[in-house]
Amino acid sequence: MPVVRPARPDDAEAFAMVIAAVADEGDSILTEAPVDVPGFSLRVRQTIRDPDHVLLVLVEDDGVVGCLGLHPTNAEGVSTLGMAVLEDSRGRGGGSALLDAALGAARERGIHKVELEVFCENARAIGLYASRGFAVEGVRREHHLRQDGSRRSTLLMALLAGEGAARR
Ligand SMILES: CC(C)(COP(=O)(O)OP(=O)(O)OC[C@H]1O[C@@H](n2cnc3c(N)ncnc32)[C@H](O)[C@@H]1OP(=O)(O)O)[C@@H](O)C(=O)NCCC(=O)NCCS
Repeated sequence: MPVVRPARPDDAEAFAMVIAAVADEGDSILTEAPVDVPGFSLRVRQTIRDPDHVLLVLVEDDGVVGCLGLHPTNAEGVSTLGMAVLEDSRGRGGGSALLDAALGAARERGIHKVELEVFCENARAIGLYASRGFAVEGVRREHHLRQDGSRRSTLLMALLAGEGAARR
């Protein structure tokens, strides 16, 4: 069973490599390939030191197989969440464990609202978020122009403090 823990500075490159690998798949996260791994690692290393951000890693057999970031937004008390698990490590509860740990951290910090954006076709992620009480707040129709020239639509989903926890 994979384990979730806070990201440490020496996880930064592995964190970036998870994002790079999932971006290479091309269809599930907003970040597009190729990811500049050294540059991304540097930003992760800086962000880990900032207590306003929550960065978590999912570790399996001593290797980082997933990551999650919860970052403040311009709206006071509202943080935005992004997450990814390597393809070979999906479907074994790791994504749920990452999300539950992040929501626990959000509760501890008194974060009022956790928001995220997910491609409308990403049924697995949408199902995961809905299972934790996230509600759809809107649809961004044909909003994201991709490198292949397509325009992708996303759902905006969010969980308010006090929602979701009672159901788990
Ligand atoms: C979304 C993601 C993080 C989920 O991680 P995971 O490790 O597969 O998650 P879990 O194993 O905890 O499963 C979570 C839920 O997904 C669903 N699920 C699991 N395997 C599935 C499959 N093969 N097909 C469809 N749904 C599936 C289940 O509903 C499960 O909930 P349950 O435990 O109540 O049954 C992972 O699929 C991923 O990284 N995808 C690519 C990147 C991405 O989409 N990130 C989110 C962008 S907003």
